[in-house]
Amino acid sequence: MVRRRLTELTSKSQHGSVVVGLDVGTTKICAVVGELIEGELEIRGISTSASTGLRKGMVVNIESTVESIKNAVKTAESITGVEINAVYLGITGGHIKGFNSYGAVGLRGKEVAYVDVERVIDSAKAVYVPLDREVLHVIPTGYILDGQNGIRDPVGMMGVRLEAKVYIVTGAVTSVQNLLKCCEKVGLEVVDIVFEPIASAEAVLTDDEKELGVAIVDIGGGTTDIILYKDGSLRHTSVLAIGGNHFTNDIAVGLRVSLSEAERVKKSFGSAATSMVSDSEEIDIIQAGQGRKILRRCLLEIIQPRTEELLDLIKGELISCSAYDVASTGVVLTGGCSLLEGLDRMAEAVLGLPVRIGFPKYIKGCKDIINNPIYATGVGLVLYGSDTESGRVFYPDVFTGIFGKMKDWVKGIFR
Ligand SMILES: Nc1ncnc2c1ncn2[C@@H]1O[C@H](COP(=O)(O)OP(=O)(O)OP(=O)(O)O)[C@@H](O)[C@H]1O
Ligand SMILES: [Mg+2]
Repeated sequence: MVRRRLTELTSKSQHGSVVVGLDVGTTKICAVVGELIEGELEIRGISTSASTGLRKGMVVNIESTVESIKNAVKTAESITGVEINAVYLGITGGHIKGFNSYGAVGLRGKEVAYVDVERVIDSAKAVYVPLDREVLHVIPTGYILDGQNGIRDPVGMMGVRLEAKVYIVTGAVTSVQNLLKCCEKVGLEVVDIVFEPIASAEAVLTDDEKELGVAIVDIGGGTTDIILYKDGSLRHTSVLAIGGNHFTNDIAVGLRVSLSEAERVKKSFGSAATSMVSDSEEIDIIQAGQGRKILRRCLLEIIQPRTEELLDLIKGELISCSAYDVASTGVVLTGGCSLLEGLDRMAEAVLGLPVRIGFPKYIKGCKDIINNPIYATGVGLVLYGSDTESGRVFYPDVFTGIFGKMKDWVKGIFR
């Protein structure tokens, strides 16, 4: 990616610049506070609050989402002593779509300058987007200079014609607006809005995996987000409207227990396949207010078909985006549902690719807390933000595009 320094965007703490990631998930809202001290990122604190206003990754109740965001932000402020007024916001949901685009420009000078790169990206962005959709990301996937392919950073090279291949991610205007409206109501400025699996990828993938080809599958509570990387850049995105909540609902119905008990039982005793437990193992559950013993196998007989269905859907998606040709290092599972015992082994068997669980990579601070796939998106948002603010990576879609207009638009609603 092209390097360029962006202006300072977030408030300064006593030591360095503060970057806050806000992951508004279907089951939890998570605020991760990072601080950039002399270019090095340190996580200062993480807070979560239960999320009740979202379904399948999208806001369905503004008031309860606002309350949950407020709780997460207030707690993060009291843990870290930092006043939070700007965030990098995560977004997901079935409304998010991606497609490839292409642009070309003639060069004014003999050498490629930043302005030429901006012009070629602008030309690749000039595609028809329906009125009810807005562009969230325009990610360069490669440049071609006078027919020479595979150029990552053309600045400073000589040539007469520059072409750019980009991947464009769009979302439904109403869904994006609803999310921005919630942040606005809490008094938070949204510095940038980031498609959640792109943030998760920042936290859990290695540079080698991105380079050689990898699929990241973020299985959350309401959605399963799939993205594909090859040659260091994004190749494909898709969102399946299925996640851990479906397992919980199945257990609640199958065992006739409350949703909270089903969630507890799933996390404490759940496993991907019945073959993973002995026939006689018993577990304690609360049914109609009474403690009961059931065979653990009964629980797994409910979980296994749902796991198979989810993995079949993931496999179908991987086939349709040619992941079997591209993802040579395999699949990285992340998100809370990836903690289901044995899911990685079952995924390996069903998908026929190497599978590992993606834990957020080690960053200074809060090591014990962040070492959990449920924080992959939150930590990734902070990494994305700190890369942008330290000038390590230039994301050309920030501020300049339609998103800047959308933020003003949302502000306009509250005037
Ligand atoms: N140990 C565990 N075993 C099985 N499932 C688990 C475990 N821990 C968490 N989960 C499940 O992970 C899901 C929450 O994951 P996560 O926090 O990544 O979702 P989210 O970000 O809130 O939702 P989404 O990304 O879909 O909007 C819940 O369904 C929860 O039950
Ligand atoms: Mg999530």
